[in-house]
Amino acid sequence: MAVTHMARFEEIPEPGEMELRGVYKSFGPGKEVLQDVNLKIPKGSFTCLCGPSGCGKTTLINIMAGFIQPDIGECLLDGRTVTGPSSDRLVVFQETALLPWKTLWENTIYGPMVQGKDLMEVAERAEALINMVGLGGFEESYPSQLSGGMQRRAELIRALINEPKVLLLDEPFRGLDAMTRQIMQEYIIRVFESTGVTVLFITAELEEAIFLGDRAYFLTVRPAQVKKGLVIDLPRPRNFQHLTSRRFLELEREAIDTVDDEAKKAFSAMMESQKTRR
Ligand SMILES: Nc1ncnc2c1ncn2[C@@H]1O[C@H](COP(=O)(O)OP(=O)(O)OP(=O)(O)O)[C@@H](O)[C@H]1O
Ligand SMILES: [Mg+2]
Repeated sequence: MAVTHMARFEEIPEPGEMELRGVYKSFGPGKEVLQDVNLKIPKGSFTCLCGPSGCGKTTLINIMAGFIQPDIGECLLDGRTVTGPSSDRLVVFQETALLPWKTLWENTIYGPMVQGKDLMEVAERAEALINMVGLGGFEESYPSQLSGGMQRRAELIRALINEPKVLLLDEPFRGLDAMTRQIMQEYIIRVFESTGVTVLFITAELEEAIFLGDRAYFLTVRPAQVKKGLVIDLPRPRNFQHLTSRRFLELEREAIDTVDDEAKKAFSAMMESQKTRR
């Protein structure tokens, strides 16, 4: 079930689709990070991106967000080249960006308020989102009064309230304990399946990628290229029963086999660099 990841320049993109075409990025001689990366994020899909540590995943998100530009190639949304940041594409990083002196409610409505959006409409949306991620009753709490998992959910809705076309999530659950992570997975599924937002989700956990995604791309070690794209044909709505289905285990096996090679290469590269440092 491999999806093609070769650039097809003659194709007219679907509206809302995000695409990387022949993207190269280097941070200087010997610091080549991305090498001919081609991938597609269809509108309304949940696309996961997995790759070895340091291979260039955050660099890819920074390119999609418009924070940095590729050296060669382009990033497109709706067929138009991304040239800078925009509320079309919002990033949620793993570090918290909540304003510590504002309450959950104030943090949630901050973005649209600054943009001068209609207060009533914003308040209605904020309330719905807060309830969707189980934070109802905590509106007046400050970030320091929320648990780590609650803060991550607050980050999510703070981005969602701006109604981005694409939500870019850079390992948003990294560092959370297993139980909190499971709760977060349930919430992200609920958010995705009820809002229909397009999601790009970076994760190092293969099981998580298969459980959440409609497709997953696996990157090679640095300089990163797409090694394989996998269509995840598990039904929606997703729930934890899918984790034990035969199809889930088949897909997980395929993912493990794909990354096994790259993990071995990353390990040898690390051993080599330790040898040269001695
Ligand atoms: N602004 C920069 N200047 C120089 N080097 C950079 C810069 N940004 C990233 N790099 C280098 O590019 C490589 C890829 O970094 P990146 O953060 O994209 O990897 P990653 O896959 O997200 O890693 P991780 O799994 O640890 O999050 C790393 O070797 C990093 O040191
Ligand atoms: Mg990263």
